Amino acid sequence: MINEAQIEDTLKELFDNLDFTAEPAGLYDPLRYMISIGGKHVRPRLCLLAYSMFKDSFTEEILQPAAAIEIFHSFTLIHDDIMDRAEMRRGMPTVATKWDGNTAILSGDVMCIDSYRRIAKAPAAILPEVLELFNSTAAQVCEGQQYDMDFEHDREVPMGMYMKMIGLKTAVLLGCSAKMGAMIAGADRRACDYLYKFGYNLGLAFQITDDYLDTFGDQSVFGKTIGGDITNNKKTWLLTRALEKGGEMEKSGVIAPEYGRKALLAAMEMPVANGQERDAKVARVKEIYETIGVDEDAKYEIIKLHAAAMDCAGLIGLGKVRYEMLHRYADRLLGRNK
Ligand code: IPE
Ligand code: IPE
Ligand code: MG
Ligand code: MG
Ligand code: MG
Repeated sequence: MINEAQIEDTLKELFDNLDFTAEPAGLYDPLRYMISIGGKHVRPRLCLLAYSMFKDSFTEEILQPAAAIEIFHSFTLIHDDIMDRAEMRRGMPTVATKWDGNTAILSGDVMCIDSYRRIAKAPAAILPEVLELFNSTAAQVCEGQQYDMDFEHDREVPMGMYMKMIGLKTAVLLGCSAKMGAMIAGADRRACDYLYKFGYNLGLAFQITDDYLDTFGDQSVFGKTIGGDITNNKKTWLLTRALEKGGEMEKSGVIAPEYGRKALLAAMEMPVANGQERDAKVARVKEIYETIGVDEDAKYEIIKLHAAAMDCAGLIGLGKVRYEMLHRYADRLLGRNK
């Protein structure tokens, strides 16, 4: 079995030494920039971890697909930042801000292609299956991103629709990371499917945490502009639950009207034309969230989803040592502030 320290060393070496084409610089520099400013490597770590449950050493047949998942993820972030009008990512200017929108589109495209090249290094015998998993996941991420954008124009979405949206835009890629690692290691179907569910549930929790941090995080640690979701009227877990719960509280009269559902709907209409207006809107929405208590509710929801993920991990039947490795991976996500 491969231990966690080996996984960390391997990840570091893998991302320190990724090689990309040099020219034209306008196409490849943004790609190098995005990879060099480094993310948390949540998905390739999960992929290598799942693989490690069944194998004793790493080969290019797993390392390149693991890198592919991170490069694909980074590509989706470059395009996501255009869609979300975001200026900061990983504590640095976004590609579209540092260069321009067109550069971000094309560099993103070539990153997507690069990720396919690396996926193709999976063992030939299971490549069709690996590709099917990756293709369906990639299409689902696009579907989720479309719902995310569509919802910006809706006043409100039911919680079920929100969960469906984050399942697609975020959770499937964590599910895919875990499953692909297990598949490449030659694990049986049952183990692969439970690892997918483990990753998927963690992915749901991961996005709710992201939503939480977007409002309640520390910008210098989180690396993204706090309040971006509120500014864009994004249908986050906080907003979705606050509209639901705020309505119930309003009806039963347990909340002052200036902090209830109607107040929140009014706050969503506040203008955001300049920094001062944006700050006022973010502060107002935050105040309502705290009064309704959805900040604490989000933490509880995240814990529930982690418990569901650990149930899936338990069902694989891999024994205590491996279960605890999955547990430590999950705990690291649970405690994150970036
Ligand atoms: C950000 O993903 C996008 C979401 C799905 C919330 P990460 O939080 O994994 O971003 P990096 O790769 O660490 O920057
Ligand atoms: C996740 O949603 C983005 C992708 C799945 C690509 P967000 O828009 O919340 O991600 P961040 O907050 O910009 O990282
Ligand atoms: Mg987005
Ligand atoms: Mg975004
Ligand atoms: Mg976000």
